[in-house]
Amino acid sequence: MIKMIHSYWAYVVLAILIFATINAIIGLTSKKKFGANDLRISLFALITSHIQLLIGFVAFYVSTYYETMREIGMGAVMKNSDLRKILIEHPLVGVIAITLITIGFSKHKKKTTDTAKFKTIAVFYAIALLLILSRIPWSQWFSN
Ligand code: HEM
Repeated sequence: MIKMIHSYWAYVVLAILIFATINAIIGLTSKKKFGANDLRISLFALITSHIQLLIGFVAFYVSTYYETMREIGMGAVMKNSDLRKILIEHPLVGVIAITLITIGFSKHKKKTTDTAKFKTIAVFYAIALLLILSRIPWSQWFSN
């Protein structure tokens, strides 16, 4: 159940994060004013990714992968690329990415120009997005 929620919520997180990143890049390049909608989109991406983080932690502790890790030990997990990806790389990179989104959002608020606000969101959200995409267990996701 929790795995299913994490799996479906991932579509929401990715869609909003991609949208927020593209919106910031367009705002930056077209020298737009950073308005209420831009703030809302960036905030939505922050909130949905934080929810995914919480769901992810629960998914981690209830997953059969976690049980496997307890049985075979960390050393064996690190030697198996599939287990390493699901149990170490995906969660760790997810936490780093969401930290970057949080830093980007809080930094943009302190910027005084529209360009600086868009640039901060664009840079932090784009890096976070690439990190997340690089460590999603794609084959497992699409085989469900
Ligand atoms: C950054 C945002 C994240 C996204 C977009 C994301 C997305 C996904 C996706 C698409 C899957 C595959 C689901 C499936 O097989 O149907 C997955 C699996 C998983 N994720 Fe995440 N995830 C994120 C963050 C996290 C975090 C922070 C953690 C842990 C702290 C985590 C823990 C897991 C676990 C344990 C699985 C495997 C679940 C299982 O098969 O039992 N995820 N994630």
